[in-house]
Amino acid sequence: MTEHVTHVTHPLVQHKLTLMRDQKTSTAVFRQLLREISQLLAYEVTRQLPMTTKRIDTPLEPMDAPTLDGKKLALVSILRAGNGLLDGILELIPSARVGFVGLYRDEETLKPVQYYFKVPTELKDRLVIAVDPMLATGNSSAAAVDLLKQAGATNIRFLCLLAAPEGIARMKEAHPDVPIVTAAIDSHLNEKGYIVPGLGDAGDRMFGTK
Ligand code: URA
Repeated sequence: MTEHVTHVTHPLVQHKLTLMRDQKTSTAVFRQLLREISQLLAYEVTRQLPMTTKRIDTPLEPMDAPTLDGKKLALVSILRAGNGLLDGILELIPSARVGFVGLYRDEETLKPVQYYFKVPTELKDRLVIAVDPMLATGNSSAAAVDLLKQAGATNIRFLCLLAAPEGIARMKEAHPDVPIVTAAIDSHLNEKGYIVPGLGDAGDRMFGTK
């Protein structure tokens, strides 16, 4: 990936996102849409995975057929909302390894506080896709990527559903080497750090905690 931000404008992604933004959308439907969108975004974020060929026999003749190369990729969910993107992507890439980074946002300072970190071994040899639906201030995303780099990751991509310009700028400044894939770039953050127009609190909407 060469662009720092890839905005996925595919009609299916945009249609599903509109349904997700609507406050009348139920928790069950929100979760299902997130699963579907995660697969479409995963398609985009994995577009340039390295390939090789392997010799197989079709019923007609042998062929050198394309197959994924390299070590299994690592999906890293930034808790808790990242988990909403995880299941759909794992359906598409079932052999992916999975990690979790637990960061919560201090509501006063909007700064990330770490409470959990568990990632696959040999991160340095894997493509690492960090997932979090909301790139808001970018503070927790940048902190999560810091932790992944400390754990050895060198090839990281960041997948989100919505990004605020402030979050994109923060990530670009902290991690210019980490491409971002998003379904939307919204207007701004409000005084509480929510993306506007956004979709509200992604975790609450997918888990029904509000
Ligand atoms: N996290 C959310 O869930 N929503 C926002 O708008 C910002 C951060």
